[in-house]
Amino acid sequence: MAGAASIWFNGALVSAEEAHVPVTAHALHYGSSVFEGIRAYATPKGPAVFCLPQHVRRLMDSCRIFRMTLPYTAADMTEAIITTVRANKHESCYIRPLVFRGPGTFSLDPRKASVEVAIITFEWGRYLGQEAVEQGVDVMVSSWRRAAPDTAAPMAKIGGQYVTSQFIAMEAADHGFVEGIALDAQGFISEGSGENVFVVRDGAVSTPPLSAGVLPGVTRAAALTLLRDLGLPVREESLLRETLYMADEVFFTGTAAEITPVRSVDRITVGAGHRGPVTAQVAEQFFGITAGRLPDRHGWLTYVSAERPAIADRPAPVRGGGERA
Ligand SMILES: Cc1ncc(COP(=O)(O)O)c(C=O)c1O
Repeated sequence: MAGAASIWFNGALVSAEEAHVPVTAHALHYGSSVFEGIRAYATPKGPAVFCLPQHVRRLMDSCRIFRMTLPYTAADMTEAIITTVRANKHESCYIRPLVFRGPGTFSLDPRKASVEVAIITFEWGRYLGQEAVEQGVDVMVSSWRRAAPDTAAPMAKIGGQYVTSQFIAMEAADHGFVEGIALDAQGFISEGSGENVFVVRDGAVSTPPLSAGVLPGVTRAAALTLLRDLGLPVREESLLRETLYMADEVFFTGTAAEITPVRSVDRITVGAGHRGPVTAQVAEQFFGITAGRLPDRHGWLTYVSAERPAIADRPAPVRGGGERA
């Protein structure tokens, strides 16, 4: 992971050394942040951000759900993201917009703490490895469950909620697996620590519904579209754990994991034990569109080099708007 020179911090590009957070920041103590994970891909026309409006929209939704008043509009965030990718001269990168509660209170009602915004970019290859994308990964069903819908807000990408994902990831690694799949509070399949999951059997594709506590993944939505484009029957439906063992194919979707086949679950081989034909077709479309090799027929790419108006100058948010930390 190569760190970028410039970080967008509260309205301006600063060096990584200047982007400091005080130890009194509320988010550091209580996970009071929301974030996004976005990729920009190298294309013949320069770097292109995949599904940027969808990611910015989810960020705005997460802020609304968590009652964080963002001092920037969706258009501002869009321009700030593009500005940061361009400033760091990335050909391709991972983009991490982060909205967090800074200093201002130690209270569990966070609303007296400041709201601050950072956009960090870095160059990043395949999250689960190039081999994983081609050969597939070995995963386990986690003993950790996704939070019930009334325990957390699974549709929001809230920092504190990622403690569960960390438990899932650590457990999987400790048992020699690449990833874990969590069940939901009722025991139906939910999702990986940072990926949505799809199951294929007899040519029909299923993925758990949002009511299974899954993050509404941007790549999940893109994969659903690509599957429908391919004329395959696709359903969002509750799935029992054993569906994973009976499947012809299982694959993950996610900004980090992209389209990654699963070759075994709980040491049971999935299908033929390598990437199956449906996963291969979705991957071919996904990687073809993001690389600019196939037409961007759904308008998923935002080119970084295109002419755009500069973001309006805004004052940085005032820190410590409430009681002193
Ligand atoms: C818990 C969780 N589920 C699913 C996903 C996949 O979502 P997306 O495709 O928007 O990256 C992510 C990654 O952001 C995630 O963190």
